[in-house]
Amino acid sequence: MSITLETPRMTLRPFQATDAPVLFTWVSDPEVMRFMPTVTGLDHSLEQTVARVARYMSYQEHYGFSRWLIFDRESGEAIGDAGLLKMNGTDEIELGYRFAKPWWGQGRATEVAAAWLEYAFNTLNIPAIIAFAEPENRASIHVMEKLGMQFLRMDAISGKMEVVYGIQKPASTGDVQA
Ligand SMILES: CC(C)(COP(=O)(O)OP(=O)(O)OC[C@H]1O[C@@H](n2cnc3c(N)ncnc32)[C@H](O)[C@@H]1OP(=O)(O)O)[C@@H](O)C(=O)NCCC(=O)NCCS
Repeated sequence: MSITLETPRMTLRPFQATDAPVLFTWVSDPEVMRFMPTVTGLDHSLEQTVARVARYMSYQEHYGFSRWLIFDRESGEAIGDAGLLKMNGTDEIELGYRFAKPWWGQGRATEVAAAWLEYAFNTLNIPAIIAFAEPENRASIHVMEKLGMQFLRMDAISGKMEVVYGIQKPASTGDVQA
């Protein structure tokens, strides 16, 4: 059974091994990867992206969530990736998002991130989600603010100082007893 997440304009699904070439088109773009605080950073070869996809797939297998591939539903084009990863050394779960450049500035990160939060809280039953960005990545921080996330702290993540925001699963209003 294939899982998907639907937003008004986009469909997301877990990665498959055959997705590496399309993912490579944006994870090899220095402008897209400028603020990515990963250990590996920018992918310089398709082999690195093949390994990245394998990581995301095994992550999905192990945790039931991972980064997923995003498709523009109208064109059918793969346009970005987003999803949840567990932070190293803590129990925190991080929401991340990134798009190929032609798709920036259309409200897509906010749309996808909102769908991931809903899925995390209501389907995966995760109690809290964090997101982080370099202080200069104003667009990413603005997405967090639009999602209702609150500033938590500054933190050194993979050697870079990052702004960390967080949000908790909203209290259920449907099960209040009279
Ligand atoms: C960051 C990124 C995901 C944003 O995606 P997006 O689809 O353009 O984001 P949205 O359109 O949903 O929202 C961006 C908001 O930031 C605002 N913004 C964009 N650039 C900005 C800037 N330099 N300063 C302040 N605000 C900015 C936009 O106006 C928009 O706000 P608005 O809806 O109130 O107008 C996208 O630029 C990207 O993929 N960047 C490369 C990867 C990356 O850095 N990911 C985040 C890592 S932490």
